[in-house]
Amino acid sequence: MRHTALITGASSGIGLAIARELARVGVDVVLVARDEERLQALAASLDTGAEVLAADLLTHDGLEAVAARLAQRDRPIDILVSNAGFGLAAPFHESTIEDERRLHELLSFVPLRLAHAALPGMRERGRGWILTVASFAAFIPFGTYSAAKSHAVNLSRAIRSRYADDGIRATALCPGFVHTEFHDRMGIVEDGPAWMWASAEDVARRGVRGLRRNQPVVHSDRRFAAIAKGLQLVPDTWQGSLINAYRD
Ligand SMILES: NC(=O)c1ccc[n+]([C@@H]2O[C@H](COP(=O)([O-])OP(=O)(O)OC[C@H]3O[C@@H](n4cnc5c(N)ncnc54)[C@H](OP(=O)(O)O)[C@@H]3O)[C@@H](O)[C@H]2O)c1
Repeated sequence: MRHTALITGASSGIGLAIARELARVGVDVVLVARDEERLQALAASLDTGAEVLAADLLTHDGLEAVAARLAQRDRPIDILVSNAGFGLAAPFHESTIEDERRLHELLSFVPLRLAHAALPGMRERGRGWILTVASFAAFIPFGTYSAAKSHAVNLSRAIRSRYADDGIRATALCPGFVHTEFHDRMGIVEDGPAWMWASAEDVARRGVRGLRRNQPVVHSDRRFAAIAKGLQLVPDTWQGSLINAYRD
């Protein structure tokens, strides 16, 4: 049976790599982002059915157009990949509240809205997969980005536990640092030890494999999984000091 996936943030980085990985295994894709030209170029390069849905998920009309596509019963979406996102370079006390609102809308509310649109049809069909691209930041106190990403992880866990009996699978992909346009868009340079960095292709492969294996949370690799576990034993103040030392 052929499946169709809708991927947000498919014009670059992890979303683009996930779209390629899903297409490689024979899944048709619906590509969502603002940059229509890049989405068209990606669609043309894939050996699978590819539909382009250009939308700004931070506008009411853009978000509702994508939600409506997810809810369409005659052209069902089997796999929702909520990936679109960005980060803020400014610390919380210096960021504008408008930027914070945009961050939290895109990282927290948009995945919730899209899951809400996709779930009824998925439940009727008795199958559905939801992959949410969160971050390793969900497990550490790393600014308001961490807060938004821990929301994404817990939303995924909540959907997973509540709808497992309806045939719905949900996985939170929680990569460490990934070479994409993310840092460039924030206006900061990619930094830190090489082992902490992964390619978007590796992360996409792990995410799609985790979804197929019905894993609740997928990390960049075993080291990040072990660190996330170990950090549960470390008080927040120590974690905060470590993060601040890394920043300085
Ligand atoms: N890179 C990392 O180190 C890293 C680590 C952990 C988690 N993540 C997470 O991974 C996800 C993907 O980021 P990335 O690293 O692949 O960065 P990226 O290369 O900058 O890609 C971000 C994607 O989100 C889309 N997007 C941004 N704002 C949007 C909006 N308002 N409406 C629709 N689409 C929008 C962008 O497309 P358009 O500009 O065309 O709209 C782009 O396709 C994010 O959720 C990020 O938080 C990244």
